[in-house]
Amino acid sequence: MATTRRFQPNDLLRFNAVNVDNLTETYNLGFYYTYLAQHPDIQVVVTSPADQVVAYMLAKVEGPVPNHHGHLSVVTVAPPHRRLGLAARLLASLESTCESPAVKATFVDLFVRSGNTVAIDMYRRFGYKVYRKIRGYYTGGDGGGDAFDMRKGLSWGKPVVEMEGGDVHAREVYLSL
Ligand SMILES: CC(C)(COP(=O)(O)OP(=O)(O)OC[C@H]1O[C@@H](n2cnc3c(N)ncnc32)[C@H](O)[C@@H]1OP(=O)(O)O)[C@@H](O)C(=O)NCCC(=O)NCCS
Repeated sequence: MATTRRFQPNDLLRFNAVNVDNLTETYNLGFYYTYLAQHPDIQVVVTSPADQVVAYMLAKVEGPVPNHHGHLSVVTVAPPHRRLGLAARLLASLESTCESPAVKATFVDLFVRSGNTVAIDMYRRFGYKVYRKIRGYYTGGDGGGDAFDMRKGLSWGKPVVEMEGGDVHAREVYLSL
């Protein structure tokens, strides 16, 4: 039975097995500590009965009204633990937080490599749409560096329209952050 709980700083010392994957971005320690310090209640790990970290999610809530939204930064599951519904569980946890009256987020968004068809199909199954394509967002890897900005409208906002945000270059996105 897997256990879902808050991501603790010590988990950073034992999450390598989850990160050994060419579709999982690994960042510097400051990146993770910023999430743990600024949004401690949203970061989640899943552990196995042997207390190994087998999946995790990093996310944040950002932006002013009416663009107050949840952003899924990382969701990843160790290969032996895939297709067990862990990513579904983590996404549901973020969406539930974002839907709460205390947060009132209008949508949840995420960036995914355009070649990561498994993840894209999974997000579509969970109600996410491609809001825009971002050329040159990633360096190297599958999908030639392009990203899809996928979004799911929540009850506090309006439905997301497929490709409403168009086809943009990464530098336009960075300028608007
Ligand atoms: C994408 C990823 C997070 C999915 O995690 P997971 O725990 O296996 O996903 P779930 O078990 O919750 O699957 C939910 C649904 O997504 C779809 N899905 C997930 N993996 C799939 C696969 N390999 N092939 C086909 N459909 C898949 C299915 O519809 C599945 O539901 P089902 O099992 O009832 O058919 C995992 O494959 C992973 O860590 N990949 C590497 C990192 C990554 O790409 N992260 C996303 C970056 S944006």
